[in-house]
Amino acid sequence: MTIKSRIRTIPHYPRQGVMFRDITTLLKDPVGFRVTINEFVHRYTGVRIDRIAAIESRGFIIGAALAYQLGLGFVPIRKKGKLPGPTKGHDYELEYGTDRIEIHLDAIDKGDRVLLVDDLIATGGTAEAAVALIESMGGSIVECCFVIDLPELGGRQRLEARGQKVFALCDFEGA
Ligand code: PRP
Ligand code: MG
Repeated sequence: MTIKSRIRTIPHYPRQGVMFRDITTLLKDPVGFRVTINEFVHRYTGVRIDRIAAIESRGFIIGAALAYQLGLGFVPIRKKGKLPGPTKGHDYELEYGTDRIEIHLDAIDKGDRVLLVDDLIATGGTAEAAVALIESMGGSIVECCFVIDLPELGGRQRLEARGQKVFALCDFEGA
């Protein structure tokens, strides 16, 4: 069983030329979903982590399941305007378009060791914004982990260039 074989590619979504790597086919498969989460569970069991932060929306699916299984608290990093309490935000450029993510001011304590989770890293803009937010609150990132890396878009290098550790379960080449 491979995780990669259960990820579907939708050509030209959300726009011409983009090969969309769709994890819904992985998630709907009970074995696929479980194996995906277990891969992360095995990697991070025994690692000192204070909480898991994941990025709306697809990152929530992975991050919440992982936090539950590791017995850790979950921190949502949301798109703008979604969190009810006082927040801190960071603007970033997306593979297609621009956006802003926000985190609650009380979500991270100084010195927290945070595992950052998202489903996919493309340009790394989203993850970099999340890293910046967490670090600006005094948290340190244990690692940034993803189901999918799109190496040609340079996100991994971008995060590594700023000193982050990056882990992905699979990668896809090709636009
Ligand atoms: C996608 C994906 C990552 C991000 C990666 O999310 O889930 O979060 O883009 O792109 P980047 O590395 O170039 O920043 P998207 O913003 O499309 O929203 P969604 O998760 O809510 O579907
Ligand atoms: Mg996303």
